[in-house]
Amino acid sequence: MKITLTVNGEKREVEVKPQTRLLDLLREDLGLTGTKEGCGKGECGACTVIMNNKLVASCLVLAVQADQSEILTIEGLNCQDELHPIQNAFINKGAVQCGFCIPGMIMSSKQLLDENINPTEAEIKRGLSGNICRCTGYVKIIDAVKEAAHKMRSRGEDDV
Ligand code: FES
Ligand code: FES
Repeated sequence: MKITLTVNGEKREVEVKPQTRLLDLLREDLGLTGTKEGCGKGECGACTVIMNNKLVASCLVLAVQADQSEILTIEGLNCQDELHPIQNAFINKGAVQCGFCIPGMIMSSKQLLDENINPTEAEIKRGLSGNICRCTGYVKIIDAVKEAAHKMRSRGEDDV
């Protein structure tokens, strides 16, 4: 089946099988391997992407369900080769260890901060509750989201 979707701002036309998952389409057909597969059953958040401004576990979405949709993956966050403030904050705070959970964590953080640029710690924890990290203990990840929120708020104020 042929589907058309916009991935990271670029229109793509792809031939997929009925059983192809969005995760496979991204990683195998489009070569966007930043999105990871952990559990493959909607529990770990490693495969999180943003579809039509909502977080989805791409292992649970069929590619055909993404027909005509807009998808944002970790590869689409960089702007003119600069890291996104959330990515910079994860690096500054030392929030990355093995890195496997990080693309999903960052996509969940982006969605959270797009909806609420000044989240409380409880709201950050809730926003990231679908993402499991086996390495960091989460403290530095939460610190990174706080730093990113702070930077993004100040950037917004500078733009006014
Ligand atoms: S791989 Fe999709 S939620 Fe774990
Ligand atoms: S940094 Fe290793 S799973 Fe999160």
